[in-house]
Amino acid sequence: MLKVTARAHTNIALIKYWGKADQQLILPANSSVSLTLDRFYADTTVGFTDQPGPDRFVLDGRLQDAAATHRVHAFLDLVRQQAHIHGAARVSSTNHVPNAAGLASSSSAFAALALAASRAAGLSLDPTALSRLARRGSGSATRSIFGGTVIWHRGTDDASSFAEPVTTAPNLDLRMVAILIDAQQKDVSSRNGMARTVATSPYFPVFTATAERDSQAMVAALAAGDLEQIGELTERSALMMHGATLAAQPPFTYFAPATLAAWAVVRAVRAGGLPAYVTMDAGPNVKVLTDATHVDAVVAGLRAQLDNELVVCAPGPAARILTTT
Ligand code: DP6
Repeated sequence: MLKVTARAHTNIALIKYWGKADQQLILPANSSVSLTLDRFYADTTVGFTDQPGPDRFVLDGRLQDAAATHRVHAFLDLVRQQAHIHGAARVSSTNHVPNAAGLASSSSAFAALALAASRAAGLSLDPTALSRLARRGSGSATRSIFGGTVIWHRGTDDASSFAEPVTTAPNLDLRMVAILIDAQQKDVSSRNGMARTVATSPYFPVFTATAERDSQAMVAALAAGDLEQIGELTERSALMMHGATLAAQPPFTYFAPATLAAWAVVRAVRAGGLPAYVTMDAGPNVKVLTDATHVDAVVAGLRAQLDNELVVCAPGPAARILTTT
């Protein structure tokens, strides 16, 4: 059995994807822009046996039951269809995150699975085809095929919805500081949360139209190396996404009290003259966007007022094969 191990890094959206135009193909309602991070990644090994049967999925050393394997199994069916094979898969995946508090991500998980499984099945997909395949596992995984700053073009069908790298001016070296916040309550999954937002939030059309325009504005701001513009667009997209969840029926939020406290500290750091901009996803952690020149001062400003663990991330690389045996 050919066994392939791939590594893919987590990405954090600067312009958010928060709603599907097509649930089955995972076509997003708007384009989105992200930063792939060096510190958070998944390593995944896949092999296909000769015989059909149940797939076996081990995550962080623990064998997963049928319910937990369901999404992985459905994804592997797509790979088997493309490769014209029928064997059951053996999948083993490890998340590398400094602290497990809500940082393991479906973006790195499905990007690593797409690369390892497609190679193990005998396919040799180019990055665009790989990005499209990863999209079928989880929308945000579309972007984790690539390193650095990335745009996911919304597209109108399976062929046109994929990601590609976008140029960031060479004088701008972005950093993202993750402020780790313990979740007390169980999160609404991003899949369910975005479906509820699309179906019921009167703010959703405004969020998605703004995000589509802001994706183009973000590409221009990255090319120009304009950190202030990048930061303002980043904050607006995140806060509009979270505003849309508050207006859903029934309403919900991913913000914990500590999320708001951390956000206030970031605002204070910025009021002190440092570039520091927040983004938040489908959980309580706060991420702070800044650059390499200012990151030490930003971290010192955060540490002065927060006890939370901080993880400083630089741009991370594209998904890649680690071993083939
Ligand atoms: C808030 O990619 O997890 O991180 O496509 O249903 O698997 P599915 O959703 P997922 O959603 C990510 C939402 C987000 C914003 C983003 O990454 O753009």
